Amino acid sequence: MKTYDVVVIGAGAAGLMCALTAGYRGLRVRVVDHAGKAGKKILMSGGGRCNFTNLATTPAHFFSGNPHFSISALKRYTPHHFVELVERHGIEYVEKAPGQLFCAQSAKEIVSMLLTECEWAGVEVSLSTTVGSVERLGEGMRLEMDGRKTEAGAVVVATGGLSVPTLGASGFGYDLARQFGLAVTETRAALVPFTVTSRWKDSLASLSGLSCPVAVNCGDGSYREPLLFTHRGLSGPAMLQASSHWQPGMTVAIDWLPSIPVAETLADLRRRAPRRRLGNWLGEALPKRLSQALIEWQAWQDRPMAELSNADIDAVANGLKAWQFKPAGTEGWRTAEVTMGGVDTGAVSSKTFAVNAIPQLYFIGEVLDVTGQLGGFNFQWAWSSGVACGQAL
Ligand code: FDA
Repeated sequence: MKTYDVVVIGAGAAGLMCALTAGYRGLRVRVVDHAGKAGKKILMSGGGRCNFTNLATTPAHFFSGNPHFSISALKRYTPHHFVELVERHGIEYVEKAPGQLFCAQSAKEIVSMLLTECEWAGVEVSLSTTVGSVERLGEGMRLEMDGRKTEAGAVVVATGGLSVPTLGASGFGYDLARQFGLAVTETRAALVPFTVTSRWKDSLASLSGLSCPVAVNCGDGSYREPLLFTHRGLSGPAMLQASSHWQPGMTVAIDWLPSIPVAETLADLRRRAPRRRLGNWLGEALPKRLSQALIEWQAWQDRPMAELSNADIDAVANGLKAWQFKPAGTEGWRTAEVTMGGVDTGAVSSKTFAVNAIPQLYFIGEVLDVTGQLGGFNFQWAWSSGVACGQAL
């Protein structure tokens, strides 16, 4: 039987960060993962370039049953701390959108940086390792891994969420939480594309690949981001963000021309360019294929501006500024970037990430009920919670 100060379950973003932090403090740390590779989600993230942080990170960028839970960790380990680490390893990065930092070359560099740091910190990383059971043993813990018993002073659960099972996702962390009497809030796929009913499939498929900037409203969420048509439905950052606010049955409102006051513009054109046709104006304001589709979907007549009544102008403005779309569903766990919900933070310390009633058991990263918006926030949560826990162990 081998003994460690800490066993971290999950060699993903949060688990590796926690392990190396604890390792540098002189603790004997072992990280175990059932996958054959560490950091699989990091490798796939940001289109292979990993949007590893967002310089604008605040607790307001996260959804949680307790909106204050993320404050302490985010304050103690900020995006600038992670950027410093990335720079120390000579990894080049680019700011693709305001605040969103991506690797200039490859996400592989982030994984190898974390594994190098783990090696320097003396952390043992065991891949393709199955954790059978985790039990409390006096003031420590006993685990059974690949049929062998191991004792540890503490166990850190960093098994992430349910999204993309082919990248190693499992519900193991939630099962462990329940085993130790913690509540798990309802989980659902988020940052995920919407699917459409068969009625829409053909007309949307003909727009597949087209992207345009929109403003979107769904529930209490409003975003101004690009939308992407796919052959399955609607995607792109605007729809992924909206999906975090969406529940079955809800509608999503899309403003196709967020920078144009449509009613005023059309009324003005009716005065100044009465012979200009509606379709001609719309074809210049939007990608042609999309303008034609919108005219068809809303059965607008392509008439000269002079023939538009005030009611016609209002109808067109409404159809362009608040187009209502009812998704059939989402693509689900197969393509979702994150899991909304998770281990209830009520039983966990926001300073140390230890379970209040079981001080030798910790939960960090996405397995907790803390979910970031799109744009590098989820990795920042993994780094910040991992470091806070690694310092507290
Ligand atoms: P993470 O999922 O990284 O790690 C969990 C680890 O636990 C995995 O290695 C898994 O194999 C292991 N595990 C699970 N069950 C286990 C078990 N039973 N036994 C042993 N090990 C087990 N975020 C962002 O900020 N910027 C981005 O660009 C992207 N892009 C992106 C793309 C895609 C395709 C996805 C799916 C997700 C993203 N994300 C993202 C989200 C981001 O990847 C995610 O929030 C973090 O990886 C969460 O870090 P964790 O360490 O908590 O879990």
